[in-house]
Amino acid sequence: MPFFLHSIDAWEQDRQQRFNLPALTKSFHESVPALGFIDWNITAVERGYAETRLPLNTSSSNQYITHQGPLMLLAAEYTGGLALASLFHKVPIIGFWPAVDNNAGYMWGAKSTIKWLSPSCNNLTCKAHIDPGKWVQLAKRFASSNKLVTTVTIKMYNDQKLVATADFTYWVQDLNGLKRHAFDPDKIDLLYLHKTQTTAKLIVGLRAMEQEKPAGQRRFEDPYAIMLAGKHGITLARRFSIATPQLQNMIVARTLHLDKALTAFSKTVPEFNVINIGAGYDSRFWRLEIDNATVFDLDLPVMLNERKHFFDFSRRPNIHNIDIDLECHHIDRVLQESDSYNQGLPTFFIWEGGSMYFENDKIDHIFSAIRALMLPGSCFWMDYVTEDLVNSATGIEEIEGFITNIRRMGEPFINGYNDIAVISEHYGLEIQETLHSGALLSRQEEIYKQYKFCIFQAK
Ligand SMILES: C[S@@+](CC[C@H](N)C(=O)[O-])C[C@H]1O[C@@H](n2cnc3c(N)ncnc32)[C@H](O)[C@@H]1O
Repeated sequence: MPFFLHSIDAWEQDRQQRFNLPALTKSFHESVPALGFIDWNITAVERGYAETRLPLNTSSSNQYITHQGPLMLLAAEYTGGLALASLFHKVPIIGFWPAVDNNAGYMWGAKSTIKWLSPSCNNLTCKAHIDPGKWVQLAKRFASSNKLVTTVTIKMYNDQKLVATADFTYWVQDLNGLKRHAFDPDKIDLLYLHKTQTTAKLIVGLRAMEQEKPAGQRRFEDPYAIMLAGKHGITLARRFSIATPQLQNMIVARTLHLDKALTAFSKTVPEFNVINIGAGYDSRFWRLEIDNATVFDLDLPVMLNERKHFFDFSRRPNIHNIDIDLECHHIDRVLQESDSYNQGLPTFFIWEGGSMYFENDKIDHIFSAIRALMLPGSCFWMDYVTEDLVNSATGIEEIEGFITNIRRMGEPFINGYNDIAVISEHYGLEIQETLHSGALLSRQEEIYKQYKFCIFQAK
């Protein structure tokens, strides 16, 4: 049985050492700003137990100068969640702790009830105890990557007086379990779907931010970006831009570079394929006038279904949606099953915003498949980050902020290259061009050198 963290001090120390995070309460305030606004704080965490405090103040009180009922439920929710999280050995809960691998857990409320017994007219202490008889059973269920559903009772006091009780039902599961049915749109876990779409929304949100600028100031035109991003994408992009204001420039640079490379390629051949790996909310082939390309958008079926809500594919018979789970399917085999794919044509491969998320064995499948399909005259565009960035070793504050945010979102960057030649040589590719994201925007700050673009050709 793994070692457990027994006190808030041990928990804090572990978090500080591993992730250089702010104190636990501050970290919750950063993740859920409403908790900071009402000055909610964590006062104790032990194995199977959590205690928090909701002060009575002008922000937390109502018209009768007692606590607002729903805020008591909010405080109870996080108290019970903390008590439950304390049972899992050093497992980051996505949203609050940075996830570094697929052992991180998602925890969500499934239902709740609250009984208000009397008005809460003093600071409110919330206490959640989990019966020790359940500890091992709950931890084992989580450790086996199965979905765990359990109810925690939270008692709320003014000094010694019990003023309310809440029952919160949570469900928890790690990412290994959540991604089991990623390929099946009927069975994919709703939270896995949410998480996967979130990174794609963040990117299109950053493109949408460019479109919010006055016409003369926009560095590229994407009439679809605001619609595709919606409130979710734009909020994500704004939140990420607080810690990393350069992020939006980086996405602008990537869009400009890939648009330019693709347009130039299209002029050198009469006809060609485009293989777009992980299409997400990319609207490139709807906004660029490239009519000699047959496009294959590869993504999880749920994401391709989502694209069908936004784009009228009957207007673009040259764009094909190809279902794939890159974790377990091979690109070459999947494409060869498509009647529309003509392997004899030169091909422009795109892997945009994807290389950072996959482990070595999956990277190997992807590169090997691309290499197998690449005829002379084809090329492969991809963006990548440095290994230093992945290891959080750049010493650049804005990068560290980005890494923490993306890990908190449950989509950690796990793959990067300090020297891209290592991978090109391994797969028999030639580097046609590699440049850092600042180069296109004439920005020389160090941060831009951690994010790069590359074009490979077959040797
Ligand atoms: C960060 S988004 C980038 C989207 C797009 N290329 C862009 O730049 O806007 C990553 C994309 O990869 C897709 N993806 C992630 N894991 C995948 C998997 N296992 N199989 C297929 N696609 C996957 C996601 O659904 C998402 O659309």
